[in-house]
Amino acid sequence: MTIRHFLQFRDFTRAEFEHLFERTRVIKQRFKAYRKYHPLADRTLVMIFEKSSTRTRLSFEAGMQQLGGNAIYLNTRDSQLGRGEPVEDAAQVISRMSDLVMVRTFEQDIIERFAANSRVPVINGLTNEYHPCQILADIYTCIEQRGTIQGKTVAWIGDSNNVCNTWLQAAEVFDFNVHVSTPPGYEVEPERAGLFGDGHYEEFADPMDAARGADLVTTDVWTSMGFEAENEERMKDFADWQVDADMMRVAAREALFMHCLPAHRGEEVEAAVIDGPQSAVWDEAENRLHVQKALMEYLLLGKVNS
Ligand code: CP
Ligand code: NVA
Repeated sequence: MTIRHFLQFRDFTRAEFEHLFERTRVIKQRFKAYRKYHPLADRTLVMIFEKSSTRTRLSFEAGMQQLGGNAIYLNTRDSQLGRGEPVEDAAQVISRMSDLVMVRTFEQDIIERFAANSRVPVINGLTNEYHPCQILADIYTCIEQRGTIQGKTVAWIGDSNNVCNTWLQAAEVFDFNVHVSTPPGYEVEPERAGLFGDGHYEEFADPMDAARGADLVTTDVWTSMGFEAENEERMKDFADWQVDADMMRVAAREALFMHCLPAHRGEEVEAAVIDGPQSAVWDEAENRLHVQKALMEYLLLGKVNS
């Protein structure tokens, strides 16, 4: 039997995402009504973190417990992972002792090698290149609050990082458009983003032009984890790429603002925007829990309809 992994957004088809979103709706509703749902009783999720996390750790750990299973946290600091054990060996061992693995690491190649040696499904909890669980939550939030994402325009303001790359992959899957504005030198790298084509995004020199008419405006930190050495230079290069109230004014009247968090108010986003009425960031963060429960259910049990 082939094992399914979720290593980048395009690993799943649109029909599979539609199933996940329907399951998310059911699982979320059940959870809000305090109805017990333990389909993953006796299953173990191992979470490997080579970078820091609040939301990803909490949503996977709480989510697995809420589904009746257990979650085990490993990090680089106090496991053999930080002492040079080959990722292939770690994958062999960890996947013999667990049912599901989530990995947050640096290069995508590391998680690809882990998955190639794993007996169980592997989920990408963020790499330098992608953050598929985040966009799963973002699109679910968009559908929940605005009905659909198909045909809409998403404005990405800032760094063409892991979250941006994943939005670009999602645009191909769901058929929407992304208007990207990055400072010069930080443009989208289509091959690194893992795109099939260039028909779903457009690049704009001026962030105001990217935001004009957009249904959703989104951004992320100027310096991602692993790129801290570039921080000083980035602070200068990104100074004009802040999502502020003027930018939200040129977007569509009902436009949402999203941010994967953690956010830096006064850098990539003005406080008035992230704390304002168009901001969906808290629902977006909460939905990580619900979509990932649907994802874990799907990877372990296939299409459930109960
Ligand atoms: N958005 C997100 O992945 O947050 P954490 O880094 O806190 O997990
Ligand atoms: N782009 C950010 C996202 C954090 C959730 C990073 O990789 O640090």
